[in-house]
Amino acid sequence: MSPISASKSPVTVVGLGLMGHALAAAFLASGHPTTVWNRSAAKAGDLVAGGATLAGSIKSAVEASPLVVVCVSDYDAVRALLDPVASSLAGRTLVNLTTASSTQARETAGWAARIGSAYLDGAILALPQAIGTAQATVLYAGPKAAFEEHEATLRALGESGAMYLDEDHGLSALYDMSVLSIMWGVLNGFLQGAALLGTANVKASTFAALATTAINVTTDYVSAYAQQIDEGAYPAADATIAVHAGGMEHLVQESEELGVNAEVPKLFLELATRAAAGGRAGDSYAALIEQFRAPAGHTDDGLSEMQAEAAK
Ligand SMILES: NC(=O)c1ccc[n+]([C@@H]2O[C@H](COP(=O)([O-])OP(=O)(O)OC[C@H]3O[C@@H](n4cnc5c(N)ncnc54)[C@H](OP(=O)(O)O)[C@@H]3O)[C@@H](O)[C@H]2O)c1
Repeated sequence: MSPISASKSPVTVVGLGLMGHALAAAFLASGHPTTVWNRSAAKAGDLVAGGATLAGSIKSAVEASPLVVVCVSDYDAVRALLDPVASSLAGRTLVNLTTASSTQARETAGWAARIGSAYLDGAILALPQAIGTAQATVLYAGPKAAFEEHEATLRALGESGAMYLDEDHGLSALYDMSVLSIMWGVLNGFLQGAALLGTANVKASTFAALATTAINVTTDYVSAYAQQIDEGAYPAADATIAVHAGGMEHLVQESEELGVNAEVPKLFLELATRAAAGGRAGDSYAALIEQFRAPAGHTDDGLSEMQAEAAK
């Protein structure tokens, strides 16, 4: 832990829930003069004991630093807190690390522009315990100049994990959701496998090593499929969608026969079957992107399945 240093840029943290508290602690630990504010002031106790300044009002919190970091439950809370102090935010940089949708992020960027605040929308890809360590990745989107101005301070949250994305404020939220989508996809696959093996008394911990290998093998597909998706051409150098669909039928059948939940495998099969029916049976798995790009139940020609049925 570095002593608080006058040579380090001051920072204000608004919101001291589990994550906001970890953010403030990381700024403090790297020596930044840190001002904090939370609706429930008691949560600042140990931070103040560690050298943070507890502001008496949100206005004085905002006015204490050129960089204001906010991390509360949702964007309604962000606006409820910051609207009344909009004039104090003018000329400062606001970094919003509250989770949101890309639409909310872009709307908030519009609001920040109207009040004259430089705005970075961020997404935290870490648990509070990882903040300040090499495991913490924080994504930022918005004006690059604002990121660069405060990059040294923001690196207190994770030295190598401060990742600037783009001027488009929506991108941090979109990347956040895209990464979560991968996490839940992988974890649901692991849980399906663990449930299947559990019917034969195989412990999940016994499966873990092979599951990890399978996850690593799957990563090999990502770059090749990404290129196919970007090019819009899906030559099946490995396995066709028809072959995948055959395997999925086995997974559904095995799950049902063993009394294991088959909802997720059935969804896989439904997507693959729809792609095959739309003419993609001989293409690589990457062609399924067309199913993900369209709202549920749409065929390749843009009609919903109900519309297509009615048109027959
Ligand atoms: N925890 C994680 O692992 C994690 C990881 C990545 C991203 N995030 C994101 O970080 C954000 C905060 O999460 P958290 O885990 O810190 O949640 P939390 O522990 O529930 O804390 C919520 C914070 O929001 C404040 N708050 C809520 N509604 C408010 C309102 N109407 N007015 C003023 N303050 C309000 C709370 O104030 P009080 O203390 O007064 O209730 C508290 O400071 C969320 O957007 C979350 O998605 C969290």
